Amino acid sequence: MGDILRKARLSTQPADVLAFTSSIDVDEWIFESDIAVDRAHLVMLAEEGIITGEVCSRILLALDTIQDGGIGELPLEEDIHAAIESKLIGMVSEDLGGRMHTGRSRNDEVATCIRLRLRDELLRVMRELISLRGILIAHAKVHIETLMPGYTHTQHAQPTTLAHHLLAHAGALGRDYGRLSDAYVRTNESPLGAAAFAGTGFQVNRARTCELLGFDCIIENSMDAVSARDFMIESASAFANLMTNLSRIAAELVLWSSSEFDFVTIDDRYASTSSIMPQKKNPDVAELIRGKTGSSVAALVGILTITRALPQSYNRDLQEATPHLWSAVTCALASVRMTAGMIDTVTVHEESLARQATTGFAMATELADALVRRCGIPFRTAHQIVGTLARMDAAPSLEMIDEISLSMIGRRLSGLGLDEQVISGALDPVAGIRAHVSGGPAPDDVARVIGIFENVLLNDQIALDARCKHVSDAAEMLGCEVQVCKRVR
Ligand code: ARG
Repeated sequence: MGDILRKARLSTQPADVLAFTSSIDVDEWIFESDIAVDRAHLVMLAEEGIITGEVCSRILLALDTIQDGGIGELPLEEDIHAAIESKLIGMVSEDLGGRMHTGRSRNDEVATCIRLRLRDELLRVMRELISLRGILIAHAKVHIETLMPGYTHTQHAQPTTLAHHLLAHAGALGRDYGRLSDAYVRTNESPLGAAAFAGTGFQVNRARTCELLGFDCIIENSMDAVSARDFMIESASAFANLMTNLSRIAAELVLWSSSEFDFVTIDDRYASTSSIMPQKKNPDVAELIRGKTGSSVAALVGILTITRALPQSYNRDLQEATPHLWSAVTCALASVRMTAGMIDTVTVHEESLARQATTGFAMATELADALVRRCGIPFRTAHQIVGTLARMDAAPSLEMIDEISLSMIGRRLSGLGLDEQVISGALDPVAGIRAHVSGGPAPDDVARVIGIFENVLLNDQIALDARCKHVSDAAEMLGCEVQVCKRVR
């Protein structure tokens, strides 16, 4: 147990030390990737004449059995790589199985496995994110005219529409998508063939394993290949950024579903109740997304802190960073799905939103703008006149405005063209919103932005499908080559 690597060089490790050093529990994440890496490496070794076709065939057949048995049937070793090799040797003898690791190290192997699995997870999160962005856009289309209060500092600021608000989140999530897409580029590179760190004297064909595993390119420097974990930092950073944006949506759902706001009702499936207070309906899913954002940031900080100041090249510390990556992946994938489900099933209280759209003198800016346009006074003066109105909590009548302007600038604004009609026009939220075309809530402008976002989404979808196809084509190619190799005797 735990000795295929150490039986010649070192004495047996006591169980507690092995438990301390082993990554086998977390390696479940890379079990399937490891089998794929083994297959690609074996096919390449046979093609290059480094092992015979027969050896390759016998090992590939045994790997099928190992894959079917799953990680639970592997012997306890330091990690999944040693465990698979140990199982293989137990099945087919060392004379055969002992040849699989020719021209390879666990250092290039683990880096390759992590990249393969992470690549799949990035594609998965990206697909879910496309769906969430689509849901936000679809709901925005429905709520182009739905008035609601807009906030700064969580204080009523200016009226807006629900569509405008939802598209703000869609914009942020579009950038998150771009970050994940960038992280994918740096993740989908092949370290295989780098061996321990210095490459190998065996004539391994790195381009071939790169191709068989669906990587986009090789990491040229072998020392960099085994030791780089910046692709993990970049991905975890993209996940943390995404979670931060999701947490903002979650926080709003928590607020908006409260009786104080009463903007939305969250669907029952995303709510919990209290064990003591029978009336309670709590937004637990949204709260947990907010909470998991902390875990996601912790994962990023974990990877950064573990990998900082590590001298070249492979150091065992790196093993400690990997679980943080899987934690970040888990948080992000589930949270995107939950957010999509919550938004898709939420009930919007349009009346309540409209009622609150103009409370708190939310049309004050519009009124100040109207004074500038009508009377030609500087904006700062208009701001002070309307600010005085707000301070007095007075109804914005022509009489009041004249009184304030007379004491402030020595002139009545009615003398500069202001009348009741201009004032009441400025206080009409629907008219105000129609005028806000600079990326604002004006329905025409929102419709324009929806068109742009839909286009971007479609292009993202096409590019994602192409990436997925490249990966699945490679898997198919590897499968075919494996079948060919298995038939050789
Ligand atoms: N379990 C190890 C990891 O996650 C695999 C590589 C082990 N390499 C070594 N030289 N001990 O990093």
